[in-house]
Amino acid sequence: MSHLIAPSILAADFANLQRDIEMINGSDGDWFHVDIMDGNFVPNISFGMPVLEAIKRHATKPLDVHAMITDPDRYIPEMVELGADIVTIHYEACPHLHRTIQLIKSCGAQAGVALNPHTPLSAIADVITDMDLLLVMSVNPGFGGQKFIEKTFDKVAQARQLIDDTESSAKIEVDGGVGPANYQRLVNCGADALVAGSAVFNSPDPLEAIRTMKMSPVPTK
Ligand code: DX5
Ligand code: ZN
Repeated sequence: MSHLIAPSILAADFANLQRDIEMINGSDGDWFHVDIMDGNFVPNISFGMPVLEAIKRHATKPLDVHAMITDPDRYIPEMVELGADIVTIHYEACPHLHRTIQLIKSCGAQAGVALNPHTPLSAIADVITDMDLLLVMSVNPGFGGQKFIEKTFDKVAQARQLIDDTESSAKIEVDGGVGPANYQRLVNCGADALVAGSAVFNSPDPLEAIRTMKMSPVPTK
């Protein structure tokens, strides 16, 4: 299966959200990446439930919700109720990660776990076979438009190894500073899904930017 592109709504024009959602509906993009930030787990507030509900009303592709929030268990049922197809919570925000993963699944969504750049992959080794998605953060979460952290390539390759070794069905998604300049190497390292915010919405031609990042990468030897 070819890799997936998840345009991040955080970089959309919130005053023209319906227009931007319809643009992604008609694009080669695969998922809507929806960043929910609480101003506590991360130093920024994005949007919450009413906006999630509004996005769902217009989106015709799966909603990949990235919850950058403290105590996500409080909000998971509502997020799924409002239309999240994937709910990704942060390892760093979950003292009972196994329980939180089961909660997401019991609500009917796919369960993702995100790792901040400083968190080693070994932190989720014991739950990798319970997860549907591993979100490797390639910036510190909280803001769009940040510089990609180069060490991510190694982390993605290690994640690929772990997933293959354990026969986990988890997909690897990379989030932050991803664009046409680095997407090929990420896919070659083993990424299955790439989030792109500014690379899509700040491009003069967002549809073309997505099309470019959907192209099969030139394999590395
Ligand atoms: C950052 C968010 C990202 C963000 C990516 O905390 O999790 O999803 O929207 O934006 P870009 O692609 O601009 O780095
Ligand atoms: Zn995100």
